[in-house]
Amino acid sequence: MKVIIVGGGGREHALAWKLHRDDPSLELIAAPGNPGIAELGRCEAIAATDIDALSALARREKADLTVIGPEGPLEAGIADRFREQGLAVFGPTSGAARIETSKTWAKALMLRAGVPTAAAETFSDPAGARAEVRRLGAPVVIKATGLAAGKGVVVAQTLRDADDAIAMMLEKRAFGDAGGEVLVEQFMTGEELSIFALTDGTHAQVMLAAQDHKRIGEGDTGPNTGGMGAYTPVSIASDAVMDDAMDRVFMPTLAAMRAEGVPFTGLLYAGLMLTPDGPKVVEFNCRFGDPETEAILPMMESSLLDRMLTIAHSGSLKDLSPLRWRSGASVTTVIAAAGYPGSVKNGDRISLPPITDGVTVFHAGTKRDADGALVTAGGRVLAVTATGPTLRAAQHASAGYAAAVTFTGRQFRRDIGWRDLARAGA
Ligand code: GLY
Repeated sequence: MKVIIVGGGGREHALAWKLHRDDPSLELIAAPGNPGIAELGRCEAIAATDIDALSALARREKADLTVIGPEGPLEAGIADRFREQGLAVFGPTSGAARIETSKTWAKALMLRAGVPTAAAETFSDPAGARAEVRRLGAPVVIKATGLAAGKGVVVAQTLRDADDAIAMMLEKRAFGDAGGEVLVEQFMTGEELSIFALTDGTHAQVMLAAQDHKRIGEGDTGPNTGGMGAYTPVSIASDAVMDDAMDRVFMPTLAAMRAEGVPFTGLLYAGLMLTPDGPKVVEFNCRFGDPETEAILPMMESSLLDRMLTIAHSGSLKDLSPLRWRSGASVTTVIAAAGYPGSVKNGDRISLPPITDGVTVFHAGTKRDADGALVTAGGRVLAVTATGPTLRAAQHASAGYAAAVTFTGRQFRRDIGWRDLARAGA
């Protein structure tokens, strides 16, 4: 069996790791991959957005499955092109990927389908957006409607911050066309949860809920990042919350997408806010989340490969057994480069200590230099996951390993999972 993974970050390393665990004889190819994935398979120097070269690779290699990691190629129609050519692909069509790539489209779909979410209006004129901000009052949320590399959402605490965000997106065009329209959305209070569902378009299998840590500093302080760590399971994701997410979020969204003629197959990620009125959707993503995937997959006992193959070959998840999970907890600590989330310097040598029990190191922004040494090559460099019998044990092992990794100016948080530990009084 031969599988291609498109992408080259920590999420794609975790996917490769899990698929290899599901079938150790699997032949893995990653494009472009990274030095961590290279220990599990072969890396091809093809960009994740080069759809022609990727489909040629899949045909040449007679791949049984291609798994798309990032949203960019999905927006560009990689899954449509693969399907047109009879190639098995895990990931939604470009039309279905709009659930992430057009926040305006996603919001309209949710409101039509009765999926709980904050009220919002779309604007392309700055004056209209500013008037709406004044009607709602601060705090208020300003979202670029298109893909903005994780930077398109501003939670404005004051009207002035909201005006600045509107100017940045609509007038200065900081995100180009992706910010040519903005949503002005009511602020929701509560705690966020990330819930992933594997889906064939009709049936869904929901994975363990996780919580991302988006701020750079401990205690969730400082600027937003692409994610400094994640943990699973999360105590507030009770059975009632998970049932609610299935019945009021995933099922109506999948039904609405089928009715619109854009069935969603692949991995649907719901970013939820647990408000006093129940879970509400903050956003959907059309792919696995990062770094949540690095925390969730080491807990998964069921085969991800079987489910991906079923979905990619238009089979039904109905007949597959429910997902099984190991007991205990998993904590992922992201190690970032100096300067992150601002501009970072690349090329610093990384030294990795020997792996300890229960620890897995996923590569994100790394590469090999001309001498073959492992060096930094991005903002988020490594994702260190530890599983353990308790959240505290997993946090201790993950942060402990991260502390022993060395490269110039590395930064990481030691408190991943702090909300649940505080709740438990641990
Ligand atoms: N963890 C946030 C994301 O993957 O978009």
